[in-house]
Amino acid sequence: MFIDIHTHIMFDVDDGSQDMETSLLMLQKEVSDGTEAVILTPHVQSRPQKVERSVHHERFLELKKRAEEEGIKIDLYLGAEVLYRSHLEPDWNELALAGTKYVLLEFSMQEHSPVEDVVYDVTRMRFIPIVAHVERYPYVDFDLMRRIKDLGAWIQVNATSILGLDKKVHKKHPMKMLKEGLVDVIASDTHHITYREPNLLDCYTYLKKYFPQEELDAWFYTNPKKILSSITKQE
Ligand SMILES: [Fe+2]
Repeated sequence: MFIDIHTHIMFDVDDGSQDMETSLLMLQKEVSDGTEAVILTPHVQSRPQKVERSVHHERFLELKKRAEEEGIKIDLYLGAEVLYRSHLEPDWNELALAGTKYVLLEFSMQEHSPVEDVVYDVTRMRFIPIVAHVERYPYVDFDLMRRIKDLGAWIQVNATSILGLDKKVHKKHPMKMLKEGLVDVIASDTHHITYREPNLLDCYTYLKKYFPQEELDAWFYTNPKKILSSITKQE
């Protein structure tokens, strides 16, 4: 079983799914892959963000209701993928994953961002930053990854990068990260159903040839489960 903590399945809120039907197809694909829970993480503070946060709450309830009506057996949670912007101070309580202390934080792929300082600040606020798709930031090397992990951050890698389907990332890079023990979670970061589709099963099947079961379980299930197990309030 899988838990997908980074997805753009919520419809018409960013550059992910644009309509309810696509979102339902994406959820069906997650279920058929063996995913038991999905955290919806629409873009926040970045250009793809199309709506206010209040709309995320409305869409979340709409999607949850339709998924139940369609008999799609999957647990849905609300979160956000927050882009670091030096001039903005996000409301982490509001944007955390499923109301927990875990927050999904992304950085610019072009500009050199102060990743270590930001991770330090967020942990000082007693949140646990999960750095989204670390493999996509050319300025983040293994030493920096180790340092932010030492500060308490988690590292998330996209299944798409591991499968060699992200043109911006050389496949060897995330594989080496996995081998070096730098990765905490693998997520789909799915945006659509015909491209950047939910692909955890594909990634899991590929990695099975190279890694022991225990490590696969940690990346795809037991670590994500720790996030959901820490829920104190729920919508
Ligand atoms: Fe994303």
